[in-house]
Amino acid sequence: MDEYIGAIDQGTTSTRAMVFDHAGRVLAQHQLEHRQILPRAGWVEHDPVEIWERTNDVAREAFAGLRLRALGITNQRETTVVWDRRTGRPYANAIVWQDTRTDRIVTELDRDVRGRVIRQRSGLLPATYFAGGKLQWLLENVDGLRRAALNGDALFGTIDTWLLWNLTGGPDGGVHVTDVTNASRTMLMNLETLQWDDQLLRIFGVPRAMLPQIRPSSDPASYGRTPDGVPLTAALGDQHAAVVGQVCFAAGEAKNTYGTGNFLLLNTGPSLVRSSRGLLTTVAYQFAGQPAAYALEGSIAVTGSAVQWLRDQLRVIATAAESETLASKVADNGGMYFVPAFSGLFAPYWRPDARGAIVGLSRFNTDAHLVRATLEAICYQSRDVVEAMQQDSGVTLDVLKVDGGVTANDLCMQLQADILGVPVSRPRVAETTALGAAYAAGLATGFWDSPDDLRANWDESRRWQPTWSSSQRAEGYRRWKMAVSRALDWVEI
Ligand code: G3P
Repeated sequence: MDEYIGAIDQGTTSTRAMVFDHAGRVLAQHQLEHRQILPRAGWVEHDPVEIWERTNDVAREAFAGLRLRALGITNQRETTVVWDRRTGRPYANAIVWQDTRTDRIVTELDRDVRGRVIRQRSGLLPATYFAGGKLQWLLENVDGLRRAALNGDALFGTIDTWLLWNLTGGPDGGVHVTDVTNASRTMLMNLETLQWDDQLLRIFGVPRAMLPQIRPSSDPASYGRTPDGVPLTAALGDQHAAVVGQVCFAAGEAKNTYGTGNFLLLNTGPSLVRSSRGLLTTVAYQFAGQPAAYALEGSIAVTGSAVQWLRDQLRVIATAAESETLASKVADNGGMYFVPAFSGLFAPYWRPDARGAIVGLSRFNTDAHLVRATLEAICYQSRDVVEAMQQDSGVTLDVLKVDGGVTANDLCMQLQADILGVPVSRPRVAETTALGAAYAAGLATGFWDSPDDLRANWDESRRWQPTWSSSQRAEGYRRWKMAVSRALDWVEI
């Protein structure tokens, strides 16, 4: 019987299981959504038990009848779970990466030396986005949690850790581990030693006893086996998995993933490049027995979710795909710019107080202009991080490799090439995140011999060339920056 590699991609809105063959082709897949729990403005939660159940359901469906040599896990990053080691029951809902309840905690950190220590040691900056502040909030607000953490009963994990612990037996001997990429999103890991950092733990008041062990992203020995005996040989954050799936293995190679948000990562090889322009330094991936590869990351909170907002809240479109047909009815944005700063603005601005703005309106404007301005916002936000990245790294992109759900929107990809002024290239397998987790799992077991083996699988499905004149591009960007300044200037009265 032939053998394949399985992947579980636990994302912000859904969980997907996929099976790949040696050529990187998809053999089977299944996907289920889970609830977005929004108890107050700015709060976003998930039910960890529901996520675990969805994971079982999609895996059962996608893996049925196929023999898996290994399984890799990839996940929404930063989302924070705490649970009881004895029962497996979460102490609270998971606090999702988009949640801004820790605004006060992180703003305080930047008032003194702690902000500098966090930047220097973790490569991140104090922001509501990362897990450390969320864990501090839980420790301070959930009754009995700190005591349980100190006596070793309460465990912390990002979603990779939660799933791996459950997949390997839960209360009956489940492994309590995470990988370097997920750990690099907590503000608790030292980016040089790749271990939890005592000073950072002190800043957030986190007891060491509740933390998982940090392991390489791809490792035959780190993650145990599923109840069916399938070796779990890889775990990595979804954006890092996409780096692997896009075979960005050399320093200077970058990818941009278009999901709920956008995440542009540039591989900087074994060197740790520090940003002076609002980018994050993070671990790209680590294969067992090798040094870690680092990356510079531009994180954008709201891109695909702005299209969902048009669909679910404003109801100007019925499906995400309709955004392309409606926006194609007009030749341009009709002077409208939309800055979807729903969670403040992430890179390169890092302003939790920014709020969404739609500017440039006239009576002439229609719903089609609004939808077009939304697609342009996805692309302009990406341009903001590309500009910062080129200045920080000195690397000039000659092509942008893209993946993720929004890349099915051809108009949006054409706009991206026009707004950036560089060609945009989409691979044959657009589910690059799951593919990357499978690659990392397969590399650990010898299913694929080396990263070069994987490069041979990469295949372009479509390329978009820029069509705007340089003056049109410059003028559009100038107006976008004016729109951003409105979103930044917003003050709640
Ligand atoms: O950092 C958040 C990111 O990992 C979420 O990705 O694809 O679930 O929106 P996604």
